[in-house]
Amino acid sequence: MSASYELLERQVRELLAGETDFIANAANFASFVYHELPDVNWAGFYFLQPGGELVLGPFSGRPACTRLPSGRGVCGAAAIAKETLVVDDVATFTDHIACDSASRSEIVVPLLARDDVYGVFDVDSPLPARFAARDRSGIERLVRAFNEIAGTAKPLESPVS
Ligand code: SME
Repeated sequence: MSASYELLERQVRELLAGETDFIANAANFASFVYHELPDVNWAGFYFLQPGGELVLGPFSGRPACTRLPSGRGVCGAAAIAKETLVVDDVATFTDHIACDSASRSEIVVPLLARDDVYGVFDVDSPLPARFAARDRSGIERLVRAFNEIAGTAKPLESPVS
């Protein structure tokens, strides 16, 4: 069954409304996506550090790589491009960083504060080509809602240009 992203967005807004703590909202957002989207084995945040390294933030799923070197992996590529990346088969993305060998496909949405990337939201699936065009726009929609509500309270200063 495919997710109704319109409904999910309403639920995300309810879940995050009223809480001003960025980490609390990021943790609940990751857990929400992990549990509400079918066929997902990991969902979570990486935040950009000065120098461009991405460091693990709140997530749901198996323990993951804590630090992704600047510009590396699907996450680093999406952060640099400032655009969502969908990888239908992670085996064909040569710079893919495998944190969980069960992952087959992946979507990474950059987090923007004004025009600066301050992190990424990453979702992995054990199925190949799990993220269709409607999932891409739907997950972008959820991340936009997160960013609108929680992003202004982020504790990190945007370190990249
Ligand atoms: N696969 C990601 C690394 C993060 S894990 O999937 C949680 C990448 O290539 O950037």
